Amino acid sequence: MGGKVTVVGAGFYGSTTALRLAEYDLFDTVVLTDILEGKSEGLALDMNQSRSIEGFETKIVGATTTPEGAGYEATANSDVVVITAGLPRKPGMSRMDLIGVNAGIVRGVAENIAKHSPNAVIIVVSNPLDEMTALAQIATKFPKNRVMGQAGMLDTARFTNFVAEKLGVKVAAVKTLTLGSHGDTMVPVPSRCTVNGKPLSELLSQEEIAELVDRTRNGGAEVVALLKTGSAYYAPSAAAARMAKAVIEDSGAVMPVCAWVDGEYGISGVYLGVEAEIGRTGVKKVVEGTLTDSEVAALKEAAEAVRAKQADVQTL
Ligand code: LAC
Repeated sequence: MGGKVTVVGAGFYGSTTALRLAEYDLFDTVVLTDILEGKSEGLALDMNQSRSIEGFETKIVGATTTPEGAGYEATANSDVVVITAGLPRKPGMSRMDLIGVNAGIVRGVAENIAKHSPNAVIIVVSNPLDEMTALAQIATKFPKNRVMGQAGMLDTARFTNFVAEKLGVKVAAVKTLTLGSHGDTMVPVPSRCTVNGKPLSELLSQEEIAELVDRTRNGGAEVVALLKTGSAYYAPSAAAARMAKAVIEDSGAVMPVCAWVDGEYGISGVYLGVEAEIGRTGVKKVVEGTLTDSEVAALKEAAEAVRAKQADVQTL
């Protein structure tokens, strides 16, 4: 297929994303960058040496970058850029606790990326997700459709896994949906959840669903608490890589992502977790699904919560 994707940040999230993207064997080049000298070069070398075993031709290029912009030439003219830069949570921290330190990092990265890849689609995964997505758009000055965040794919995957485990069914039999923020105002949408086509509400009690919803909302924190250092990356990287794939393939796949909302559900002017068609231009279209009144109310509440914080990032 061809094309170039850059993953900024060679921590566990970034490096796993880079490898997943390379193993798709879709792109000509995956560029992995980091500010730690030699780290991304070393990881790229190692990944390239796996190519003959795993059977993919995509070349992985590592590049050390500086906050001032050195090294970003390696990322030039990327079609897609996944921004994972920033610190992960420590046990007991909320994603929002990262806003001050990660805002500086994400702003710098976004400016450097915009300089070298003016036509890229940006996928942000740094936390707090909804705010960092808004900030990346401000810093790149890209059209809003070309900047989106990864959250809903991950939260939905977590919800799906919990439902499948609870009912002892294949994950492929389960369809779930989460919208809203990637935080306290996450909005799992039970009315859109089915198992082999049957509504979830016919298979589990309200209390059981509420428990799974709660576990989904705290899905990231549960992993952080177990790991003690660092946050989740296998499911998060799977989600981000699938979004990048949908972009380069111009697939039009409908995915829950953090996208600019402009009138859908009666909500405007905010980056929020919604379903959207993803393709070569980023978010091709926000898809407004059927929700219950209380789900729409929860989505509006989430929108107001993130709107306030997104206004703050302008000055960070
Ligand atoms: C999580 C982090 C990556 O939810 O936001 O695991």
